[in-house]
Amino acid sequence: MKTIKLGLLGMGVVGSGVVKLIEKNRADITRRLGADLIITKVAVRDLTKPRSVSLPEGVVTDDPYAVINDPDIDIVIEVMGGDEPARSLILQAIAAEKHVVTANKHLLALHGDEIYAACESKNVALGFEASVAGAVPVVRAIRDGFSGNRIESVYGIINGTCNYILTRMAEDGSSFEQALMEAQQLGFAEADPTFDVEGIDTAHKIAILASLAYQTGVDFHQIHVEGITGVGPEDIEAAKEFGYVIKLLAVARRQDDRLEIHVNPAMIPVEDQIASVGGAMNAVELNCGMGGINTLVGPGAGEGPTSSAIMADVVEIARHAILGDGYPMPPMGAPIHAVSPTPIIPMDQLVTCYYLRFQVADQPGVMARIAGALGECNISIATMYQNGRQRKANKPVSVMMTTHTACEADVKRALDILIKSNILLAPTTLIRMEGGE
Ligand SMILES: NC(=O)c1ccc[n+]([C@@H]2O[C@H](COP(=O)([O-])OP(=O)(O)OC[C@H]3O[C@@H](n4cnc5c(N)ncnc54)[C@H](OP(=O)(O)O)[C@@H]3O)[C@@H](O)[C@H]2O)c1
Repeated sequence: MKTIKLGLLGMGVVGSGVVKLIEKNRADITRRLGADLIITKVAVRDLTKPRSVSLPEGVVTDDPYAVINDPDIDIVIEVMGGDEPARSLILQAIAAEKHVVTANKHLLALHGDEIYAACESKNVALGFEASVAGAVPVVRAIRDGFSGNRIESVYGIINGTCNYILTRMAEDGSSFEQALMEAQQLGFAEADPTFDVEGIDTAHKIAILASLAYQTGVDFHQIHVEGITGVGPEDIEAAKEFGYVIKLLAVARRQDDRLEIHVNPAMIPVEDQIASVGGAMNAVELNCGMGGINTLVGPGAGEGPTSSAIMADVVEIARHAILGDGYPMPPMGAPIHAVSPTPIIPMDQLVTCYYLRFQVADQPGVMARIAGALGECNISIATMYQNGRQRKANKPVSVMMTTHTACEADVKRALDILIKSNILLAPTTLIRMEGGE
């Protein structure tokens, strides 16, 4: 029986999952591959830490270089996370002509170009299915499944923590803080949830998907990113009133020769396929041109789903290594020399519908001034809503409006006029809307 030798950099949540998955499904994997997978070396930081898996003596080390310098190892699985030393270790593994599988979205969003180019120059494979949407095979769908199509848009919910929080807020009326605490207790959110709730994790993932879908380098720092910390129960309630749900949405849309790419809380019509995707689930909608609109839904994180995606890459790479067919698919699905930058559309030029929540004094004339400022900036109001239950004498009231399609620069201009008019008692909440007109 042939063998494929694996080295792991990290054995935390995901690394332990990989070890468990291989043990649990060994017979199936061996049958599919016609070869046995052997975990030869695993690097961790702290050898004294209790582990949920056990490996033969001598396999676990605290020296990551023992993994990448082991001449027997065919595939290095990087599941340590972070920037350094992960980046250097991956580059050294590639230089040593080892195939690499990683779940590290942060690293690929910031240093993907360098890593993709290194893989191509050494003719080794890079698997990164686990970096986006857990078990959902979205990388494979874009790179392989729809490779005959011109992808027009990638749109979706790719952070389970935020989806869980927003779902709890919508279903139980929880505050953001309550929902976050519950997510942490259930293991859906980190102790420090900043990367998730501020939208940064989602931006890492959409940068990776956009670069694959449009075969372009995406400058992560040019992506407009807003998290969900500003979404309040009033916004969730107003969304329901208007027939929408609020989701943290990642969008990458082709517009002629430019790219619209952003991460922000968005109102999605309740009838939209992804609107009903709740809890910690992920959903990605791919508009594939002639291939139609395809929605992939599944668990987006955690030990099981993430290790499932890692193993899909390991099995694919191992198959080609066994065949010796000189395979490696270019990591971006196109040779690096064919990849060119695409200009990103500035947010000010975005044209969509908007939800605005103003906090104003409950006085005559206030509504007329808001309507006047919007009108002066070519913005037409579609619907208006005022939550009657909150009206108390001398207290600010929230006035919620949705607009017809407007240019974001005009919306910002109207908000500036209103700020200067001194009728606003707190910053205005702005949420972009999908599917309006
Ligand atoms: N958790 C998820 O649901 C999920 C989902 C998708 C993608 N990912 C990605 O998968 C990667 C791993 O995530 P995780 O949740 O498994 O992280 P984790 O639980 O913190 O595990 C990290 C592992 O790497 C080891 N490690 C860290 N720095 C090291 C170093 N310098 N030398 C040797 N070992 C080192 C740690 O050793 P010790 O155990 O000794 O501390 C630990 O075993 C990250 O890139 C993450 O973004 C995670």
